[in-house]
Amino acid sequence: MSELAIHPSPPGDRQEILELTRATHVFTRAEEDTVLELFDAYRDNPASGYLFLSARKAGQLVGFACWGETALTEGAVDLYWLCTSPDAQRRGIGRALFERVQQLALERGGRLIVIWTSATGSYAAAARFYERMGCAMMSRIPDFYKPGDDLLVYVKYFDGRSCAHAELNQKGSG
Ligand SMILES: CC(C)(COP(=O)(O)OP(=O)(O)OC[C@H]1O[C@@H](n2cnc3c(N)ncnc32)[C@H](O)[C@@H]1OP(=O)(O)O)[C@@H](O)C(=O)NCCC(=O)NCCS
Repeated sequence: MSELAIHPSPPGDRQEILELTRATHVFTRAEEDTVLELFDAYRDNPASGYLFLSARKAGQLVGFACWGETALTEGAVDLYWLCTSPDAQRRGIGRALFERVQQLALERGGRLIVIWTSATGSYAAAARFYERMGCAMMSRIPDFYKPGDDLLVYVKYFDGRSCAHAELNQKGSG
């Protein structure tokens, strides 16, 4: 079985990243365009704040992640995008990408990772995935993306602290 290789995405991965994004059938056309915009910013401007990782197996692109340090914070990072090719899902590729992002973020002084996602059905797998990665849903904003499409904000602190709402609320009020 061939090894999974994860590397900073080279400029030539642009088209394959777009095709993989499309193949998931989760994203709108505007969202697909946004992936390209972020990729171009990453490719053309090292200070853009966007970083891409490509995961390849036997030479095939099987996944990618886009993340970056959150402006005006000390140690928060955003995970903007994470995709595994549909025919390679449930084989640990998403986990490997998430763990690499976490490792790279820690090396840069990262303290927590924040992920925005939608509450609609097409993102249900993503929600389960983020929970398995140790993230907790910290916030829900009803009708954020559009009526009936809520924003869910997932967070993982790298120091292992719990994100349970009850615990945080107790801490806040105590
Ligand atoms: C979410 C996504 C990235 C997960 O990638 P993946 O490579 O399949 O994930 P892994 O195989 O590493 O899964 C790790 C764990 O997450 C959970 N998980 C992953 N996909 C799941 C699903 N469809 N349903 C329930 N749990 C799931 C499982 O617990 C899994 O462990 P297991 O396979 O041992 O049960 C992938 O489904 C995907 O690309 N979806 C479409 C794009 C998307 O929604 N991206 C996120 C928003 S940008």
